[in-house]
Amino acid sequence: MERMKLIELLNDMSLEEKIGQLVQLSSNFYEDEAVLTGPAMEFGIGEAEINHAGSTLSIFDPKIIKQIQENAVKKQPHNIPLLFMADIINGYKTIFPIPLAQGCTFQPELAKKCAEVSAKEASAGGLHVTFSPMVDLVRDARWGRVMESTGEDKYLNSLFAAAIVQGYQGKDLKDKGSIASCVKHFAAYGAPTAGKEYNNVELSLRSLKEDYLPAYQAAIDAGVSMVMTSFNTLDRIPATGNKWLMQDVLRKQIGFEGVVISDWAAIEELITQGVAQDKEEAAQLAMVAGVDIDMATNVYIKNLKRLIEKGILNETQIDEAVLRILTLKNELGLFENPYKDLDIEEYSRYNLCPEHRKIARKAAADSMVLLKNDAILPLKKKEQCIALIGPYAEEMHLYGAWSLLGEDSNTISLKSGMELADADNELLCVKGVNLLSEKETLYGFKGLVSESNPVTKDAMKEAIKAAQKADIVILALGEHAYHSGEGGSKADLRLPKQQRELFKAVSQVNKNCISIIFSGRPMDLREIAEGSKSVLQAWFPGSEGGNAIADLLYGIVSPSGRLAMTFPYSTGQVPIHYDHFNTGRPFNGDHKNRFQSKYLDIPNEPLYPFGYGLGYTKFSYSEVKLSKTNMNKQDTLTASVVVKNIGEHEGIETVQFYLQDQKASVVRPVRELKGFQRVFLQPAESAEIKFEISEDMLRFYNYNMDYTSEEGTFLVFIGENSTTMNQAEFKLQLC
Ligand code: GLC
Repeated sequence: MERMKLIELLNDMSLEEKIGQLVQLSSNFYEDEAVLTGPAMEFGIGEAEINHAGSTLSIFDPKIIKQIQENAVKKQPHNIPLLFMADIINGYKTIFPIPLAQGCTFQPELAKKCAEVSAKEASAGGLHVTFSPMVDLVRDARWGRVMESTGEDKYLNSLFAAAIVQGYQGKDLKDKGSIASCVKHFAAYGAPTAGKEYNNVELSLRSLKEDYLPAYQAAIDAGVSMVMTSFNTLDRIPATGNKWLMQDVLRKQIGFEGVVISDWAAIEELITQGVAQDKEEAAQLAMVAGVDIDMATNVYIKNLKRLIEKGILNETQIDEAVLRILTLKNELGLFENPYKDLDIEEYSRYNLCPEHRKIARKAAADSMVLLKNDAILPLKKKEQCIALIGPYAEEMHLYGAWSLLGEDSNTISLKSGMELADADNELLCVKGVNLLSEKETLYGFKGLVSESNPVTKDAMKEAIKAAQKADIVILALGEHAYHSGEGGSKADLRLPKQQRELFKAVSQVNKNCISIIFSGRPMDLREIAEGSKSVLQAWFPGSEGGNAIADLLYGIVSPSGRLAMTFPYSTGQVPIHYDHFNTGRPFNGDHKNRFQSKYLDIPNEPLYPFGYGLGYTKFSYSEVKLSKTNMNKQDTLTASVVVKNIGEHEGIETVQFYLQDQKASVVRPVRELKGFQRVFLQPAESAEIKFEISEDMLRFYNYNMDYTSEEGTFLVFIGENSTTMNQAEFKLQLC
């Protein structure tokens, strides 16, 4: 529809209709009895308001979507179709690794592929919008939602943000298989005080702009259709009612022109946060801040009209919001075809098809990070007795907290993956202990979590017996999928007690332990690493998890994942991140001088640093060569190294390139990731890897908060992870 027609439509709509477009009703409003009893009564709304609603969320059944849309278009006075939105975070029916795992692939183009497949499956199922990507920068593994982020680095997050948006949206939202993407949560939700869910965020303006905003900017530059507000406060003002954040920053500075939606009930929560007296004031704050859609409450629908009648708001504010929503519907082609790509036939053909599973298997294998390997991997495919022990040995919930359509029956467990690898090995499988602790009651997204096939009391003994018999023990350990995700903050990052006891008992009777960790966050793996010959971080790998692990264990695929988030030495170290600051008294390793930036009881170094990961071979790096050692604003400078595979196995190295600004008008991180390249090398093969350095890479928010570069000395680091000291120096001269 032409824009003029949209404006004509807007002008023809009643105020009730306009306000209806700003309302997103949850799925239960569309169940049969909704109108007369249930949610509608609670909301104090009737059939007319439901027929005016502009969008709904979390409805997944394509047949129901078709029915609801048919009804909506008929009953909406101007036949305006609904937008169907949902959380498709790491897959629709084909489930990919959780986003934090995808970040560890260091392959944004692979994440784009996963997003494309998710969009294809979701759009055939009738969905129009996904509340993804979540691009919140994370540095505190106590926070459960680190699993949804692509990690601690702003540059890496920005690349993934743009790639995932493009994967969902394609070239044109009208195209078949495209869905609109909603980037979240704006802004800085990933920095809650004490890692506690929904807690306030205390950030300087400089940190907000320097570290936390770039990834949202990247999503918006990539054309993301929507932005979701975050639950947290910034500068003690809740984001959802924060006019400075939503208007001055998001609309004016970043230049976003699309639809802004609140997070679930976040407008109503302005009351609980203590900045709104009642729903009327909450509606006013959110509308003035520029929040277009009220997700899942009746605040807008019950208060906006009165605010206009009182002259506190004017109808043009409502019109602007409605026009943005109508524009999105138009960009999706919903006025011409309210069902877009909904197609039951294709829906069943696409979901979990071999081609999609193949992509899921590759993404899972590439996302896993080999943290330790003392010459025990890869396994040989011949007469060996392998004991597979632990709560994840046969567990099929390998798809994380936010895979609402993930199903055990569609997921390859570790045990199945080992069996399907048709290695000529004897496989003993013992759960040993439960995933949940003795008296633990864990509530997931759909109520109380139950333990799948709980162990009997002598299971521990069975496990020890199996370990005594086996040549090699594979321990499949980890946290429950609902120990992370929304509402999943934890104060202790170690594995559950009963798993640590199992590990201790088994590793005492068999030294050939390979530990595989399933988690949604970096955990404190000290004990596990100490007692294992090999440690593989598997995250929550999705539908093809078991096959991907078997591919890695048997060397069919070489491990190539690199950590997108630091693994702390202990919980006491968090928040921790590689791009930290030197301080005036950096620790020199010698405790004699008490007065240094360090702890008395633990080291400063993490257990495993950002960018770290092993393969089955070794690589050497030449010194860093620079095309010149002085550059000015107009120049570029090339840094290069020669990387050689000096092991016996083929492998993929992720060559990482960091810069340090040694002196500036504000303190600068000890290093920042500015580039990386993955290179596949056969044994004895080498390759020259080059990185271009331009002045724009050296910019930051200076003392006066201008985004600029300053002349001075810079260090270039190129190596295997964020601790590399392989360096060279150059100067930037601005004259
Ligand atoms: C949740 C989450 C948000 C999600 C939304 C809709 O509370 O914070 O990420 O998209 O509600 O499910």
